Amino acid sequence: MDELKKAMKVAFASEYSFALKAQNFHWNVEGPLFPQLHMLFGDIYEEVYESVDPFAENIRKLGSYTPASFERFSMLTQVEDELNMLEDRAMIAELMQDSDKMVKLLKIVFDLSEQAGEHGLSDFIAARIDAHRKHSWMLRATSK
Ligand SMILES: [Fe+2]
Repeated sequence: MDELKKAMKVAFASEYSFALKAQNFHWNVEGPLFPQLHMLFGDIYEEVYESVDPFAENIRKLGSYTPASFERFSMLTQVEDELNMLEDRAMIAELMQDSDKMVKLLKIVFDLSEQAGEHGLSDFIAARIDAHRKHSWMLRATSK
């Protein structure tokens, strides 16, 4: 159970970081494909932000406090901040890699959740895996 709580906190901090990075790219992307990429990154960050509140509440349901500060997030996250202004194709490639990373992290949480008999949590995590598979697909298709 402790392993599940820890994995949930890492996945949650990573999800929050992922949303912030998608929003960063939504704001700062430039180039002839601006309208499409501004919209694609916008759709992605909005979908992920909607999951943030139920994600945090699922940590509370396990009886643990949820991390909720930039410092805690930076200690826990597996999705690294991007401090440079990237060109558009590099933004697509990086967010795609991060989305693939989210799928891997979420799969770890799913397996731990099933081992703990937390089927409701598994259901939530399965939906997050599916959402990131879709984000990865759209970013991959855009990168070709
Ligand atoms: Fe916007």
